Amino acid sequence: MNEDRKGILLAGGTGTRLYPLTATMSKQLVAVYNKPMIYYSLSTMMLAGVREILLISTPRDLSAYQDLLGSGDRFGIEFSYAEQSEPRGIAEAFIIGERFLGSQSSMLVLGDNLFYGRMDFLRTASADTGDDAIIFGYEVADPSSYGVVHFDETWRATKLEEKPENASSRWAVPGLYFYPPGVTDEARQLDPSGRGELEITDLNTRYLKAGRLKVVPMGRGIAWFDTGTPTALLEAANFIEAIEKRQGLIIGSPEEISLAQGFVSSQQFLKHVRLLPASDYRTYLERLVP
Ligand code: TTP
Repeated sequence: MNEDRKGILLAGGTGTRLYPLTATMSKQLVAVYNKPMIYYSLSTMMLAGVREILLISTPRDLSAYQDLLGSGDRFGIEFSYAEQSEPRGIAEAFIIGERFLGSQSSMLVLGDNLFYGRMDFLRTASADTGDDAIIFGYEVADPSSYGVVHFDETWRATKLEEKPENASSRWAVPGLYFYPPGVTDEARQLDPSGRGELEITDLNTRYLKAGRLKVVPMGRGIAWFDTGTPTALLEAANFIEAIEKRQGLIIGSPEEISLAQGFVSSQQFLKHVRLLPASDYRTYLERLVP
């Protein structure tokens, strides 16, 4: 594992497509079935073995995330927090996070992306200490609403397209990215797009042009949801409910993952869990330690 890789969890934006849910609340705090949306992307990051995490949100919402997640102690991880004063684009995260990242490699997860399935591929990508950026490819029925990637037989990216009308690739790019050291310098070279944002696709295109953009296929065993619209949100919630009910397991619990990953001892885990309000969530967690 690359213990030094640092994580940025992006939880800003305007959440316009979910209005009025987002009139007074950050999108990534909205429920996906039985927990706040951010729990799922945080879980993804923890499953990649990343333990130092910068959460970025809006000036309005940042304190709510601090209340929810705290220092990270109880999950055996360390949170830092930073504001994005205006939604100037996803790639601005690396400029905001410059001091946090230092000379380390990084992982970025968008707070409205939810993944479920065998996550071994994350560990493999995270352990990559090479000089390439890594994005993922996920086959979708309708590529026209996504960023789409084309690649050669060695899985090197050859072209990136944003929401193509007639895409010749069905491989969408989910909101999960790995970068080598120096990503802040790359982000600083970007110009704002027509919509005034530093685009993640433009950042990735810089790596592509330098022959440094690898694509890892996410197999069909992985479920990926972007929960940014009312329908997608409901579909994700229904999916989580169906699997949780069937298996009696909870998906996206940072507490459970911290225990499974060995980030906390059983004693630390129980100490925290016993402070939780009486709930199905707490009962489930208590049962994890015999
Ligand atoms: P989007 O879904 O592109 O934008 P949004 O969240 O503002 O929603 P809408 O399009 O409905 O207005 O953002 C993808 C993710 O990136 C989401 O988790 C929010 C985050 N984000 C930021 O944190 N800052 C930004 O400047 C942008 C553009 C997005």
